[in-house]
Parts: sequence; C-alpha cells; structure tokens
Amino acid sequence: MDKIIITGSNGLLGQKLVKLFLSKNDCEIHAFSRGENRMTNTDGYTYYNIDITEKENLEQLVNKIQPRYIINTAAMTNVDACELQQLECDLINVEVVDTLVRLCEINNIHLIHLSTDFVFDGQKNGIYTEEDSPNPISHYGLSKVRSEKIILSADIKYTILRTVLVYGLVDRKDRSNIVLWVKKSLEDKMQINVVTDQFRMPTYAEDLAEACYLSIKNKAVGIYNVSSNELMSIYDIALEIADTFDLDASYINPIETSALNLAAKRPFRTEFDLKKSIRLLSLPSYSFKERLQVFKNQLSMFE
Ligand SMILES: NC(=O)c1ccc[n+]([C@@H]2O[C@H](COP(=O)([O-])OP(=O)(O)OC[C@H]3O[C@@H](n4cnc5c(N)ncnc54)[C@H](OP(=O)(O)O)[C@@H]3O)[C@@H](O)[C@H]2O)c1
Repeated sequence: MDKIIITGSNGLLGQKLVKLFLSKNDCEIHAFSRGENRMTNTDGYTYYNIDITEKENLEQLVNKIQPRYIINTAAMTNVDACELQQLECDLINVEVVDTLVRLCEINNIHLIHLSTDFVFDGQKNGIYTEEDSPNPISHYGLSKVRSEKIILSADIKYTILRTVLVYGLVDRKDRSNIVLWVKKSLEDKMQINVVTDQFRMPTYAEDLAEACYLSIKNKAVGIYNVSSNELMSIYDIALEIADTFDLDASYINPIETSALNLAAKRPFRTEFDLKKSIRLLSLPSYSFKERLQVFKNQLSMFE
C-alpha cells in the first residue's frame, strides 16, 4: 500500500484530501497539521500534531514514514497577513517547501504542491496557460513563485497545481470563504461590499482534492491549472450565491477594490486555460453554478 503524507490536514483542502483518500481505501494516510486534529473522523489514518516549520521534526518524521507521495497543502493563505508578516509567510510558504524538496530528492518522493493564480499580475489580455511567466504583485504571490522555482529547479518528480478562490466546508465550520461569508451575511441581513473589478474562476474544494488524486492516478507531472470553467467578477459570484441560496441580493453593494484599502494588491483578472488539466489529469469541467448547487446540497445535510 502506498504511503502518503498530507500537510495542512486541518485546512480546507487538507480535510477534503484525507476524506477522499480514506474513501479510496488503497493507501496509508499520514496527516500533518498544527495543534489538535480538527477533523471529526479520526479513524483510518495517523494524525501528527507538528509545526512543519520545525525543520528537524519534519525531517525526522518524513525519513521515518518514507512516503511515496507528499501533498503539501500547508501554507499561510491569508494574502493580507502575508503582506504584513513576510518573514512568517516565507518560513511556511518557501522554506518548508525547500526542506520538503530536499527530502523528496533523498527519498525519491513525488511532491504534489499547491500554488495559486496570484503568481500572475492579472493584467494579461487573455487566458493564463501553465506556460505564462509569473509576475506576482503581492508577497503571497511572490512566496508561491519562489516555492515553485525551488521545485522546478530540483531533480524530483513533482506536480504543481495552481488554483483559484477555493470554497467548501471544514468539519468544525471554523473557516470561512467567499460562499459561506456571502451566505451568512445575507442570512443575517447585513450589508456587504463586494468588488466588481476582480475576476476569478472559483474552485470547489472537493474538485481540488480530486485533482490531487487524479495527478497521482494519472502520473501527471508538471504544472496544472485547476478551477471551475467560467470567469466571473467577485460581485457576480456574490449574486450567484444569493440566487442559489434564495437570499436577498439587495444587501450586496458593488464597490471597487481601491475602496477597500487592503494591505496586499490583488490581480485584476485571472482566467485559467484548463485544456492541459482536462487532457492530462482528466479533470472534470464544471461551472461555478453547477458546483454551488452541489455545495448547497452538502450544506443542507449539516443544517
Ligand atoms: N483557499 C484559497 O482560496 C486558495 C487559492 C489559491 C491557492 N490556494 C492554496 O491551496 C493550498 C490549500 O489552501 P487551503 O484553503 O486549504 O488553506 P487553509 O485552509 O488555510 O489550510 C492550510 C493549513 O495549513 C496549516 N499550516 C499552516 N502553517 C503550518 C505549520 N507551520 N505547520 C503545520 N501546519 C500549518 C494551517 O494550520 P492552522 O489551521 O493551524 O492555521 C491550515 O490547517 C494552499 O497552499 C494555498 O496557498 C488556496
């Protein structure tokens, strides 16, 4: 049975990955995250409470487990926090990746790493392919570009999945995202300001976990774009959420990004070309609307 390490297993993608690989019942799962295990199901896999920036502990554990794959979802993902705490961001988003790469080299491990549309400046007049040159405009984006470069220059088997605006539900419902935030605000009849000048292709966390699984199953190496298949403004995304959940959209106020005074800059428009992922990963192609309906059905089971 293949052994697999999933870092960041308490996070949104990490939790989905543990569940997905458990359901396949064909690998031994080792889940790494900080603090106590925040997943409801603690059976069928081994959880390690580890801060993976503690290099020696990380090295010791990986050398002991000797996995065939590491899926690295752990990261500082709050874009504004990365801008304000750059050293902390670099430690987890860059230096840990360097350590993982060295461990992969020594132990012949395939590394699956998560990256982002924020590696781009969003100014391209057209669709981003995997071959486009990164040009980050935030420290978060820069940290991800640096992690990608470390991987690309190493002699290891790797898969880099770049993804966009991920949404889904974690077990303790203690992590928000665009869908949960808009839904809750409208349910509470709170006015929200949503930007009309940023365009994204939102990604359902389950689909991103599936893409990680497919990259192993199809032995896909290289860089892949993973997202839903239509570009929408964040404002239109919010309207779609209101419509799907039958909520009053009049609480959604359209604004421009500049009005928000955020610490980090965001790319204007990150439309992904999905052809390579559809062809080589066999990634299913879904619209945001379709997956939002699936998410709604999933949420109704918990309410
Ligand atoms: N979410 C998005 O919209 C998005 C978009 C593009 C790309 N991505 C990328 O996709 C990946 C997964 O994202 P996500 O949304 O699942 O992120 P997430 O929910 O923030 O999960 C990241 C996990 O990593 C853990 N972690 C952070 N530092 C750690 C450390 N030093 N030691 C051990 N664990 C640590 C976090 O622990 P705590 O729970 O204790 O904080 C958290 O559980 C990330 O690489 C992210 O950059 C995400």
